[in-house]
Amino acid sequence: MDQKQLKIEAAREALGYVENGMRLGIGTGSTAEEFVRLLAEKVAAGLDVVGVPTSERTAALCGELGVPLSTLEETPELDLTIDGADEIDSELTLVKGGGGALLREKIVAAASARMVVIADKSKLVETLGRFPLPIEVNRFGLRATELAIAAAAKKLGLSGEIKLRMTGSQPFVTDGDHFILDASFGRIPDTRALSNALHAIPGVVEHGLFIGLASAAIVAGSGGIETIHA
Ligand code: A5P
Repeated sequence: MDQKQLKIEAAREALGYVENGMRLGIGTGSTAEEFVRLLAEKVAAGLDVVGVPTSERTAALCGELGVPLSTLEETPELDLTIDGADEIDSELTLVKGGGGALLREKIVAAASARMVVIADKSKLVETLGRFPLPIEVNRFGLRATELAIAAAAKKLGLSGEIKLRMTGSQPFVTDGDHFILDASFGRIPDTRALSNALHAIPGVVEHGLFIGLASAAIVAGSGGIETIHA
């Protein structure tokens, strides 16, 4: 089975968590998009749900496929969020933000009673950090914020390249009008310490470590589907 098919399998399994009347957080990325496609089929067949999208990109796809949408203003409490991840460890701590939507993804996940992650098996890791950590930062003081991130990481014994994410020749701009720094720190043994250190830097808007947010991860591999519970 190729990776796309594995993403579809994980997304299909996640549909089993969706019940009539639910208020859903809807993630961003290629795996979440497979979920949207399958959800749209159920909606067309009569499923009554409302979705809060985690990005403009997801909102556009939902609109195109007829998934009813709300906003977090109108619907501030959600039953379930389904989203992808860039990395997942055995405690269900995640790295997210490869698609640049980490801020809204985290706000939506935190507003949900449950967050279920969908992924193919390549996302499972022993220790987070192989995937560069996305850090959303304010445009103002970019260089100072980058230096502060490097200094905070150094105190925790972490170092590595910190790169401004680009789209062609221009910085990538998030839905919140911020920039993203991708930090290649390598293995992150203490995610909580790094999270706290990053949150203490004024120019950091949010980072891609999701700690204690996911309640389950549906992971599809060639041997079948494994559901990991927190
Ligand atoms: C979007 O910002 C990300 O957090 C995605 O959820 C993550 O990058 C996973 O994306 P894929 O499903 O495309 O791998």
